[in-house]
Amino acid sequence: MSRGRFITFEGTEGVGKSTQLRFAEEWLKQRQVDVVVTREPGGTPLAETIREVLLAPRDERMDDLTELLLVFAARAQHLNQLIRPHLAAGRWVLCDRFTDATYAYQGGGRGLSIQAIEQLENLVQGAMRPDHVVLLDAPVEVGMARARKRGELDRFEQEAVDFFERIRRTYLARAEQWPARYHVLDAAQTVECVSASLGAALTRILGDSAD
Ligand code: TMP
Repeated sequence: MSRGRFITFEGTEGVGKSTQLRFAEEWLKQRQVDVVVTREPGGTPLAETIREVLLAPRDERMDDLTELLLVFAARAQHLNQLIRPHLAAGRWVLCDRFTDATYAYQGGGRGLSIQAIEQLENLVQGAMRPDHVVLLDAPVEVGMARARKRGELDRFEQEAVDFFERIRRTYLARAEQWPARYHVLDAAQTVECVSASLGAALTRILGDSAD
């Protein structure tokens, strides 16, 4: 049995990740691909509990290192209990955020050392990296306006604009570093246009996987 593909979806707040993830799921199912959709932080009951701790606004300031370790604690659980078994069974896993979000949010956003993130990435993941990263990119203001409309803001969404500017820049820099792995889509376009670009990217991914 061939190994499944691991595709992650990334971007700043309100760029339409969930909508495009659903589109990708349907697109792949229509082509008889066995696909599982999950998210980070979260994806298993325990990892979802860690997510609640991470996102809840609180009076006590969460230390940046606490945040980093919680993100990787949730990831260890999710990766070993859910992602790896599905991939080993030949299923494709579509994940709403993964470690690129840690480089962007905890590295770019919080200013934590990239070396520290790399060490944890190697500890938790070994050699495991996403096969493909779909980056939905839009000016920060576009996404933040959408996020505000969704209602109450979580602990991350309450951050200032320059926090998200740093995150966006980090994502784009990583995409430039690994152009074969990253698929950057202009998320400021209409939902239909973004989906059309995503369909084109998936066609290439599916073509490359036919080995
Ligand atoms: P979501 O709103 O896209 O579901 O993501 C939840 C929040 O968690 C989002 O604000 C980004 C943040 N996050 C990190 O800060 N680091 C990470 O590694 C991940 C996966 C998410």
